[in-house]
Amino acid sequence: MSEQQKLSPVEKIKTDSQGLRGTLEQSLANDLTGAINDADIQVIKFHGMYLQDDRDRRDERAAKKLERLYSFMIRLRLPGGNLTPAQWQAVHHIAGEHSTGVIKITTRQTLQLHGLLKAAVKPTIQAFDAAALDSIATCGDINRNVAASSHPAASPLHAQVHGFADTISQALMPKTRAYYEIWLDEEQLIDKKEDDPLYQHRYLPRKFKIGIAIPPNNDVDVFTNDIGLIAIIENNQLIGYNIAIGGGLSQTHGNADTYPRLASVIGFTEGEEKTLKAIYEILTIQRDYGNRTDRKLARLKYTVDKMGLPWWKEEIERRTGFALEPARPYHFSSRKDLFGWQASHDGLWHYTALVEHGRVTDDENAATKTCLYEIATTGKAQFRFTSNQNVMLYGIHESDKPLIDEVLHRHGLKQFTEQSSELRKHSMACVAFNTCPLALAEAQRYLPSLISKLEPLVVKYGLEKDETIVRMTGCPNGCGRSVAAEIGFIGTAYGRYNIQLGGDRNGQRLNVLYKKDVDEAGILQTLEELFAAHAQHRLPAETLGDFALRYMIHPATTIV
Ligand code: HEM
Ligand code: SF4
Repeated sequence: MSEQQKLSPVEKIKTDSQGLRGTLEQSLANDLTGAINDADIQVIKFHGMYLQDDRDRRDERAAKKLERLYSFMIRLRLPGGNLTPAQWQAVHHIAGEHSTGVIKITTRQTLQLHGLLKAAVKPTIQAFDAAALDSIATCGDINRNVAASSHPAASPLHAQVHGFADTISQALMPKTRAYYEIWLDEEQLIDKKEDDPLYQHRYLPRKFKIGIAIPPNNDVDVFTNDIGLIAIIENNQLIGYNIAIGGGLSQTHGNADTYPRLASVIGFTEGEEKTLKAIYEILTIQRDYGNRTDRKLARLKYTVDKMGLPWWKEEIERRTGFALEPARPYHFSSRKDLFGWQASHDGLWHYTALVEHGRVTDDENAATKTCLYEIATTGKAQFRFTSNQNVMLYGIHESDKPLIDEVLHRHGLKQFTEQSSELRKHSMACVAFNTCPLALAEAQRYLPSLISKLEPLVVKYGLEKDETIVRMTGCPNGCGRSVAAEIGFIGTAYGRYNIQLGGDRNGQRLNVLYKKDVDEAGILQTLEELFAAHAQHRLPAETLGDFALRYMIHPATTIV
């Protein structure tokens, strides 16, 4: 078989797409179906959208011989997760007009809208454009949204890092004008062979993610990215970045060749220019050496393991023309969001509000959507989303603090944020049902009620002050980063989960499988045993993840 024949079908779709144009315009114009054709389903990802359908309504639609209820999910490109209050107002209105109305803060600091019908896609993108927002390259085999540590108000260096996240995002955008032509009616180019030295005509073998952490907080879960950058600060100066490569969490049930992996630190680069050059060349190496025959083995992590770290270091140095320096020392001591009011370095204030699993809506917890809209209309706070799916309102003057506080209180968001249990505050779930086509079990629709059942158990064993990280995903792909949690749940079938234990608090150790295919009763029983043992046998200040690894997973090392 020739190399060409062995390529995965998506490879041909990419190379034949004429710079990501595909036949999207014809697919959109076809009003006989709410879907688009198979090749365009792949192409539209590069424009920031997934074709989905309402899985809750599949049976009902099939019984009526109707096609599935198709809709699109659209994801914004927001390096570092920043929005102005005017942009938040725009997103609020766009969500109400064109989508389900729920604004979803994702686990990589951006926003998604769900449930857009085909006819609503173009008006949505045009409305985003009017607010200086776009969805370019937020899905697909390309560099996606660049995440950056969420507490930039803490020092001037944080703003510098956010600026760099934006620079990286810009530098790694595709060169094609397809997005502007298709969605924003820019004049079509006659010659569609735009030169793209980075992505060429084939793009990357698989998705690509970059995150930047500023120690000591690893809120972005830096090691779960294809490239993780760790800001190195010496004498209050940002001097450069340690570079880690090969993180990625997805695995496939029953496929032993797939595995989650944390990124490995390979060296240090000084300053932004050199770091950007190294990042760029890591992408070109992955472009040239990544697996294009089996998409399950196509992420950078597999190319890193196949070629080995010494080879990678040498190849990066050969392509950049400079040597990577030895990694500089760094230390992470936390991964959490700092909820409530915090003073910023510049005399301003910021407030981090809890948005359970990132679903901005008005519900029994709080009128979060109304609240954030009202705050946006005051123009007195900037918006930033965290990698833990919460929202930070920042840049608030002391004199405006009472006003913002009153709005937060009136809509119940302050009470929800400040009175929720530690377990709830540090929990995270992916979307899963009803939109994700890959979901095997519920996640964001189920974890809140499971947390409510775990809370009394935590209190019973006196562990309510512990900031244990609990995460759930509806399948092993890991969008909710559950393998990087202290307690992780991975959906295996409807109502059933693998329980994973033993991850650390700071995101430097993955958890491991503890029990397979467990239902809710099994989860509650297993976790009660864990909490009881933790309360009785923990070492001083031992986190639940560390304890679980020592006591439940490696009982041979247990100190009785
Ligand atoms: C083979 C691996 C993966 C596939 C096929 C995949 C596919 C998907 C799909 C279809 C969705 C849309 C769900 C919806 O909105 O209805 C989604 C959401 C998302 N995925 Fe993944 N994913 C994979 C792995 C990951 C990993 C490892 C991460 C991050 C560590 C990630 C981050 C996200 C984020 C941030 C969202 C947005 C929704 C949220 O915050 O839960 N994905 N993914
Ligand atoms: S982890 Fe699985 S179920 Fe959850 S959003 Fe990702 S692909 Fe869907």
